[in-house]
Amino acid sequence: MHENTKKELIEKIKKLKKEKNAIILAHCYQNLEVDEVADYVGDSLGLSQLAAKTDANIIVFLGVYFMAETAKILSPNKKVLIPNINSGCKMADMLNLQKLREFKSQNPNTPTVCYINSTAEVKSEVDICCTSSNAINVVKSLNSKKVLFLPDKYLGSWVAKNLPDVEVITYPGYCPIHYSITTEDILNAKKLHPKAKVLVHPECQQEVTALGDFIGSTTQIINYTIKSDKKEFIIVTEKGVVDRLKRDYPEKEFILVSPKACCPDMKLHKLEDVLYSLQNETNEVKVNENIAQKAIIPIEKMVAITK
Ligand code: 13P
Ligand code: SF4
Repeated sequence: MHENTKKELIEKIKKLKKEKNAIILAHCYQNLEVDEVADYVGDSLGLSQLAAKTDANIIVFLGVYFMAETAKILSPNKKVLIPNINSGCKMADMLNLQKLREFKSQNPNTPTVCYINSTAEVKSEVDICCTSSNAINVVKSLNSKKVLFLPDKYLGSWVAKNLPDVEVITYPGYCPIHYSITTEDILNAKKLHPKAKVLVHPECQQEVTALGDFIGSTTQIINYTIKSDKKEFIIVTEKGVVDRLKRDYPEKEFILVSPKACCPDMKLHKLEDVLYSLQNETNEVKVNENIAQKAIIPIEKMVAITK
């Protein structure tokens, strides 16, 4: 059987994109090769904002399932495809509707802030969503002395540290990839690169975040390195960020804090899958209409306060 070369695959995908008026959105933890066909590569917030305003007929989403689901909720009349249907988020899987209801009933009459890394069903019963780049501002916008934050206890505790006047009650979820990064990993990297700035994603454990010179979402970390006049950076988040920085800024040095910082689910989408999915319009993401109508409210609230 004739195998497509990488170049052929890229050309076929680009041609199909035009023919079908499709847009390809990719998270920056993806394999580098997808950047050749992607219209936008960025963090969860940027992806949600674009999904909300695109006029494409089809969105091909290269990220984990909840991200594609969010795109479908924001653009219900568009077809959203996820090339590899098995690409899930371990943190989002830690919370379901039953657990959410229990958590809320233990803390009644308290606004619920939901990290975008969650299922559509969970989003349908919360007050407002947030991403790692706007979590502090979202909580601030509620003007409440107390909030429930879910499912990420580490992002929640980062918010609490920044807003000492707000009591943030966190649900015990977390990202296993960011959790695997230890203070020892950072100290070892610092020994080898003492002048390097340490840039940390807020999904990391508190003691890891405490060692950061800067804490931010993936795009915020990337922007920090671009603006900085420093030359060396220890990157404390997923490998895809380091791969892109090394490719785009060869004059600077980027050190991946640990080889464990790699999300296998994010790496599932291959160019072959993208072509197959777009050609045959397979792996369409569907969200129950009733759930979608409720879930869009907290997402749109977040998008509105972030403009
Ligand atoms: P960002 O908000 O930085 O895109 O993070 C998403 C994510 O899944 C991090 O693990
Ligand atoms: Fe989910 Fe963690 Fe992977 Fe992000 S890195 S998609 S939070 S499992």
